[in-house]
Amino acid sequence: MNEFIASLGQICAVIGAQWGDEGKGKAVDALTEHFDVIARASGGANAGHTIIFDGKKRVFHLLPSGSFHAGKKIILGAGMVIHLPTLLKEIAELGQSGVEILPRLTISSAAHIVLDCYKDIDAALEERRAETAGKIGTTKRGIGPAYMFKAMRAGIRMESLTRSAAELRREIATIADMARSLFGVSADADGELELLRQAADSLRGCIAGADEIAEFLNSKKSRILIEGAQATLLDLDHGTYPYVTSSATTAAGAIHGLGMAPRRLSSCIGVAKAYCTRVGEGEFITEAAEPAAGRLRERGGEYGATTGRPRRCGWLSIPNLRRSATINGFDCWNITKLDVLDAESEIPVFMETGGSGALSWKKLPGWQASTVGATDFGELPERAQDFIAFIEQETQIPVRLIGTGQRRGEMIVRNV
Ligand code: GDP
Ligand code: IMO
Ligand code: MG
Repeated sequence: MNEFIASLGQICAVIGAQWGDEGKGKAVDALTEHFDVIARASGGANAGHTIIFDGKKRVFHLLPSGSFHAGKKIILGAGMVIHLPTLLKEIAELGQSGVEILPRLTISSAAHIVLDCYKDIDAALEERRAETAGKIGTTKRGIGPAYMFKAMRAGIRMESLTRSAAELRREIATIADMARSLFGVSADADGELELLRQAADSLRGCIAGADEIAEFLNSKKSRILIEGAQATLLDLDHGTYPYVTSSATTAAGAIHGLGMAPRRLSSCIGVAKAYCTRVGEGEFITEAAEPAAGRLRERGGEYGATTGRPRRCGWLSIPNLRRSATINGFDCWNITKLDVLDAESEIPVFMETGGSGALSWKKLPGWQASTVGATDFGELPERAQDFIAFIEQETQIPVRLIGTGQRRGEMIVRNV
């Protein structure tokens, strides 16, 4: 592990290479002990990052997944959109497990606040789309509306929590007016104000300005681990538009969302499942038919960590991996959930779309033996090793981490 950790350098980003839920949370949880700071940079509570801690399943929506590690500084960057009751709940739940968050939490004053009425707007827009262009299948967490208000320069930012109740009331009234006139949604302004005031009481001391955060992030002292949210193919600019989220989900987006100088990123780990899933609508050319899809879903526990929706399941796509690797500049892969393929007799991998539109596949032989809990590459069945070597060869990027189970230790680390 040590050589691998050293190879990551001072600032490392962990970025999803597919359509989300690749297992970023587990990777971050496993790596956090080697860093001083853990940070989320973009997105909001549409993220659901699962870890197993003390034998129990925990899902993070806003805090980084390494938050169980005591003493690590936590940053929520300017690119995030934060639903405050969800954040307070997450902090309280960790508190019940004896994990203190507030003294080590810093939230950018420029991060936007997700009001409850944004969720109603999200749902209303989805309803309208269903009748016209077709719905996106959002998480209904108000993410699109939050970034819409941000881009309209009408959003409420974390800095507002340090202002007077009268000012906050005025800001909310403006939003409520827009919600009604633009989207036909009526907001409960008093209720929203009350939620913000409660949050202000707890979080005021955590809010820091851009200068303070920039100085901290750009000082040469701390090792920083950035946890990507969503994933490259869900990126607003580079993903499968319009079936994407509303934020920048790439490594560049993470750097921008934190306010960090781009050249300071020392490494980027691409996280990809050994197969592929997608929640919500949109293209998925490697989507599997039954019964294979059902096998992957049940073995992989492929149900949304945020919404509980069954995930669409399918096979690995080499062109998608290459595209994500190019956009993000991955130094290495973390291939997760190898164990989910243990029972497959044959593993289809999508190679390319030919000139005539024909899809070209490779069928790799399955290993049909357990890889669960393997921690050493040499322990893997030969065909599983070949599968990993195939990904390396086709993407020209080394696979350094391999997931073999849900728990933190169920991972192979291949040293440089
Ligand atoms: P994230 O959003 O990228 O953090 O991923 P999610 O937490 O939404 O979904 C990943 C799911 O796969 C979670 O239930 C994890 O506990 C689980 N998981 C992660 N890595 C592995 C692995 O290597 N093997 C198995 N079987 N499960 C894994
Ligand atoms: P993590 O961080 C998987 C998907 C939604 C929908 C689209 C837009 O856990 O990998 P949104 O609510 O963001 O407007 O929905 O994006 N989506 C995710 N899918 N994992 C996620 O996060 C996702 N965050 C958003 O399903 O298709
Ligand atoms: Mg997830």
